[in-house]
Amino acid sequence: MAKIILTGDRPTGRLHVGHYVGSLKRRVELQNSGEYDKIYIMIADAQALTDNADNPDKVRDNIIEVALDYLACGLDPLKSTMFIQSQIPQLTELSFYYMNLVTVSRLQRNPTVKNEIKMRNFEASIPVGFFTYPISQAADITAFQATTVPVGEDQMPMLEQTKEIVHKFNTVYGEALTDPSILLPENEACMRLPGIDGKSKMSKSLGNCIYLSEEPEEIKKKVMSMYTDPDHIKITDPGKLEGNTVFTYLDAFCKQEHFERYLPDYANLDELKAHYTKGGLGDVKVKKFLNNVLQEELEPIRNRRREYEKDIAYVYNMLKKGSEEAEKVAQKTLDDVKAAMRINYFDDEELIARHIAKYQNS
Ligand code: TRP
Repeated sequence: MAKIILTGDRPTGRLHVGHYVGSLKRRVELQNSGEYDKIYIMIADAQALTDNADNPDKVRDNIIEVALDYLACGLDPLKSTMFIQSQIPQLTELSFYYMNLVTVSRLQRNPTVKNEIKMRNFEASIPVGFFTYPISQAADITAFQATTVPVGEDQMPMLEQTKEIVHKFNTVYGEALTDPSILLPENEACMRLPGIDGKSKMSKSLGNCIYLSEEPEEIKKKVMSMYTDPDHIKITDPGKLEGNTVFTYLDAFCKQEHFERYLPDYANLDELKAHYTKGGLGDVKVKKFLNNVLQEELEPIRNRRREYEKDIAYVYNMLKKGSEEAEKVAQKTLDDVKAAMRINYFDDEELIARHIAKYQNS
């Protein structure tokens, strides 16, 4: 069976380092591994509209930002098909048929949807489109017959919903859809990178992000202001690692060679942590180290972004070509789905012949 990746992001802002360690970095590695037959990366503008219906310009203006971030991270249009969700009408059509296979109570139990309803104060009036976006996400994944969906942990309920739809569809109508697997980040810190304020999620609305396109000075300022251990007051005090954002970031970003380059007094992160918990290591020293690590990681991304920023027309054209290709693939699945559901009347000669026969002698 072909190995196919589908994943994507809502275009509601520039992408940040949480996106990077949680998913983008992995995608680029998967892309370059050569192990996958096809890779589809989708800018989920239609999904973004499900909770930004009154702000289409925000979505519209962020498509290019997300595409630039993709290219900056090393996604390569020769190896990965990048496209815009709303330009693939087949996804909407699939969603409509999948809706028959999902109950309202099942959607109400989706933990991600529940959480988002709370965060957006939708309790009193949930838009139907928003409520059903897990179904539309199942359409995104199945339209490309994806076998592998690399996403963050928060997307687990979406994958479960998708798998249920696939099983139900294949049972009721016959095998037409591929059962996908989620691919989560391996590293705990990458799974849920906190904001610089130590809050559980990095998010634009909380103002606690480090963006991929951030300037060096800004990165440094943010790192130096990061939340650490509030009880670690004097350098000699023992420090705590749990909930200490600086160490969480080091867990996510730091590699052996960074010590040789920037902090040769320590052999590795375990030694640094041991010193910190024992006492005698100040936050500033650790933050300066983290700043060096982040600067090294983000510099090539920022530079590549600047190159692509010089040719925005190229980026739009790349998305247009990607969308055209994606549409063809989605159409093939839609044809299979309609055949399985027996709503392909004009292709069904047997049906027409039977109905001709039925009325022949009357
Ligand atoms: N829900 C994803 C997010 O919020 C975006 C998305 C839409 C997606 N469709 C998808 C991710 C299909 C993976 C597969 O970022």
